[in-house]
Amino acid sequence: MEFNPFEIGQPETYKLMTGCIVPRPIAWVSTQNRAGQHNLAPFSFFTGISSNPPSLCFAVTFTPFHPTKKKDTLRNILELGEFVVNIVTEKTVLAMNETATDFPEAIDEFRVAELTPIPSKVVKPPRVAESPVCFECKLHTTVPIGEGPGSATLIIGLIQHIFVQDDILNERNYVDLQKLQPIGRLAGKEFCHLNDFFALERKTYQPPS
Ligand SMILES: Cc1cc2nc3c(=O)[nH]c(=O)nc-3n(C[C@H](O)[C@H](O)[C@H](O)COP(=O)(O)O)c2cc1C
Repeated sequence: MEFNPFEIGQPETYKLMTGCIVPRPIAWVSTQNRAGQHNLAPFSFFTGISSNPPSLCFAVTFTPFHPTKKKDTLRNILELGEFVVNIVTEKTVLAMNETATDFPEAIDEFRVAELTPIPSKVVKPPRVAESPVCFECKLHTTVPIGEGPGSATLIIGLIQHIFVQDDILNERNYVDLQKLQPIGRLAGKEFCHLNDFFALERKTYQPPS
């Protein structure tokens, strides 16, 4: 089948994208507003960008339900310019799902999901104590992509500090994925475990002699 995204419409395009761009890592983003109110929510349109400077990005989609049309995460990041990306694992996946509920701004998802906010090292928003990996970020840029349903704001963050729980690192500071147990996002309600690994040797180009 061939699809023209401009003919099939936004919901069908979203279905194909989320079904095919898999598995996606989940950025569990903690933020706070100027008044110090905490917020926590998952975002799977998420990836790293560069390690010099260390940077990452995730996309927050437009929401028709909020009066400002902005999710709390986006609003807080625009207000404070700081956020933490916490990594979701087998142990926290149910709590992560709780925090995806479209609560009003006044609700603190840490409380609802019974998670522990602990102070970050260099940014104001707290990190999730139950997450074994946390990236403390300052806002680099926001990039609006489109308008209306399905549109999004890409948030680019510069990583200021990285927390990794001691017991998931080996002696050479490689992360042991069997111990991290991250969760991947698939389409709709589906997720995946990450427990089947294999290695490939990278080849070096040999110019013809
Ligand atoms: C696993 C998962 C991944 C999600 N990924 C995204 C995403 O990439 N972008 C987005 O805008 N919303 C995403 N959502 C929905 C948001 O988490 C949800 O809208 C949340 O209520 C936003 O919270 P906030 O208003 O506190 O920022 C995702 C939800 C789940 C459960």
